[in-house]
Amino acid sequence: MTSPYGLEGRVAIVTGASRGIGRAVAEALVRAGARVCVTARDAGAVRRTVQELGAAVGLAGTVADPAHLRELTGLALREFGRIDIVVNNAATNQPYGPLMDADPDGWREAFTVNVEAPLRLVQCAWRGWMAEHGGSVVNICTEGAGHVGPQVGAYGTSKAALLHLTRQLAGELAPKVRVNSVSPGLVRTEMARFVWEGAEETLGAGLPLGRLGEPDDIAEAVLWLASDAARWITGADLLVDGGTRVRAAHTSGAQAYAVHDQLRARRP
Ligand SMILES: NC(=O)c1ccc[n+]([C@@H]2O[C@H](COP(=O)([O-])OP(=O)(O)OC[C@H]3O[C@@H](n4cnc5c(N)ncnc54)[C@H](OP(=O)(O)O)[C@@H]3O)[C@@H](O)[C@H]2O)c1
Repeated sequence: MTSPYGLEGRVAIVTGASRGIGRAVAEALVRAGARVCVTARDAGAVRRTVQELGAAVGLAGTVADPAHLRELTGLALREFGRIDIVVNNAATNQPYGPLMDADPDGWREAFTVNVEAPLRLVQCAWRGWMAEHGGSVVNICTEGAGHVGPQVGAYGTSKAALLHLTRQLAGELAPKVRVNSVSPGLVRTEMARFVWEGAEETLGAGLPLGRLGEPDDIAEAVLWLASDAARWITGADLLVDGGTRVRAAHTSGAQAYAVHDQLRARRP
């Protein structure tokens, strides 16, 4: 059956594709007809992912290493002959804790993996294919980059930088390449396990859409943005958060009304 996204013949690179959101994105791309080139650090997990996905090749390594990113794009070009889509999904949420205690190495690692690696991979794809033939990039940011989060200052700051990198690249690479981002709310994956484990029902019930996110919820949005269905969209951030921001706005709105009521009660 032809996919509504028309990705037959297209090739995508997905980082951090061995589990969680990246894995769901790679599966969705293959279902839509694309061939994928995947990476993660654990070689066994990459091997299993390639086998299970089918139309895939993979290379184990860290996105923090520019040489690995060059080899990854080289692999995609050698095996599949093109790179139409790049999904920058791999990330680290370390160092955890107040910024006043953040060690320089951890801070640098957050920016290397979460900001510099996405730029380096797009540079490789641009030079190897996209500058001449065009393409589409989707960066995975986070709903949390929009506000101040306790303990995750380095992560949030790096993801806010990735949001701006998305817009900057969208401006620089148009009209050949569209560059967008998806910002997930809390999704039930390993990375966020320390937040949701044991509190899934309570956290989910607090959201307007009544549950936490699943990797497939994010993958559908990535697939759409990556495809020609989003052909007139670039530099955009798509919030996929079950209404987390709406709830936050509602809460602060309610607080504002409460203050307003108190002030009004004091007026003569
Ligand atoms: N889960 C959430 O609630 C949530 C919310 C907002 C945004 N996000 C974003 O969604 C994206 C995916 O997160 P997730 O929750 O799906 O995480 P996850 O389940 O922990 O999966 C992370 C994936 O990235 C790989 N990875 C990690 N560091 C890497 C590195 N340096 N180089 C190459 N691969 C690396 C991991 O494999 P290896 O360990 O083998 O390398 C794994 O395949 C991230 O950008 C994250 O910031 C997640």
